[in-house]
Amino acid sequence: MKIANTSEFLSAEEIAEIEREFEIYPTRRAAGLEALRIVQKHRGWVSDEALQALAAFLQVDTAELESLATYYQLIFRRPVGKAVVYCCNSASCWLMGSRDLQRQLQTRLQVRPGQTTDDGKITLLETPCLGDCDQAPVIMVGTAGGTYEMHRRLTTEKLEELVNDLQKVYGGSSDEP
Ligand code: FES
Repeated sequence: MKIANTSEFLSAEEIAEIEREFEIYPTRRAAGLEALRIVQKHRGWVSDEALQALAAFLQVDTAELESLATYYQLIFRRPVGKAVVYCCNSASCWLMGSRDLQRQLQTRLQVRPGQTTDDGKITLLETPCLGDCDQAPVIMVGTAGGTYEMHRRLTTEKLEELVNDLQKVYGGSSDEP
C-alpha cells in the first residue's frame, strides 16, 4: 500500500486546525483523537491513507493511531452516510423496547445495523450504553460535521417523526408511500 505523504494528503485547512490543537495538548501524540475528529469532519470518515498521513504528521506510529481510531466508535474507518443513527442496545434500553425501535428503523431505512441507505445518506449502527439509561430507550444521531443529538424516552411515534425529519434533511430509503 502506498504511504500517504502528509503535506500532499492533508489539506491546508486540516493542518491548520490540527496545529491549533497542538497549542492545547502537551504533545502532538495527545492531540491524536482531536486530529482524527478534524480529518473526519472534513472527509466524512478516516481512510487508511488519511490515517497514515495523520500518523506521520503527529509523529506517531500508524498502528498506534489505528488502535485509537478503532477504540472510539465515533471515528469512522469506512464511509458512512451524512447522518449516523446510533441505536443503544444495552440493558436499560433493551428492557424499554429498543429492539422494537431498531426493527422500526431497519424497516423504515431498509438497512440492517452497520449498513447505509442505498442513497448513501443515513447509516444505522448499534451501540453500547449511551449514558442516559434513566431516559431509555435512547438513540443518538450524529452528522459528518461532528454534531451529535440525543433522542430520549423514544416511542414508535417519536421515532417515526425522527425518521421523517432525517429523511427530509438527508434523504434515505423508506417504505413509506
Ligand atoms: S442502556 Fe441505553 S443509554 Fe444506557
